[in-house]
Amino acid sequence: MTEQGREQQAIPVITIDGPSGSGKGTLSRLVAGRLGWHFLDSGALYRLVALAARHHAVLLEDEVSLTTLAAHLDVEFEAVDGGVDCRIVLEGEDVDNAIRTEQCGRDASVVAALPTVRQALLERQRAFQVVPGLVADGRDMGTVVFPEAKLKLFLTASREERARRRYNQLNEKGIDANLQRILSDLETRDARDSERSVSPLRPANDAVVVDTTGIAINDVVMQILALWREAARKTS
Ligand code: C5P
Repeated sequence: MTEQGREQQAIPVITIDGPSGSGKGTLSRLVAGRLGWHFLDSGALYRLVALAARHHAVLLEDEVSLTTLAAHLDVEFEAVDGGVDCRIVLEGEDVDNAIRTEQCGRDASVVAALPTVRQALLERQRAFQVVPGLVADGRDMGTVVFPEAKLKLFLTASREERARRRYNQLNEKGIDANLQRILSDLETRDARDSERSVSPLRPANDAVVVDTTGIAINDVVMQILALWREAARKTS
């Protein structure tokens, strides 16, 4: 490994994986904000590939063209007010809302099952590991993308609670949503994400599993920060 590679590896990473609606997006943002670290929303990258495919009339079965799209994704993450939130701009267009629809989530999970698409997005994800640190949110952050992370979390929550959270999130954004449909979509996506042959959704062997059902978000943030202090103390 080069000197630069070694320096990058030394930058701390907390990985937060789990199924849709487990609370990892909100928690990752909050933890990154509290630590003053960067934030990687890896799901957004798969959603962006799915959206780009739609824009360019590429079929979700066309692995070669999807991989080319993934490798050359023209996307910018523009920080908002210097915080962890950002505006996502795809080919010059603000796509914040467009990538959050349920349709885009479904398409993203189809695209994400393709090994060469995952490979094409790997280095783009690793490039987010910059000082002073990174909180990475996804499905395979602890198992594949950042296997050396100092703290790995795997969040779970009951399917009903996850569907309700998703429903509320969409409503808050003014996006039309149907709870029953979300529940059945979650089941399909969970199955596809867990059963795919490449980077399936599962906790890393050294991950701490946290069930967030019925727990206030701030309590989980405090728990994660305490786990991080402990992990940092052990490795310093
Ligand atoms: O997290 P989010 O719901 O935005 O992710 C959309 C889809 O992208 C997931 O259902 C999953 O199939 C895929 N994904 C993935 N690996 C990641 C992040 C997301 O396969 N690290």
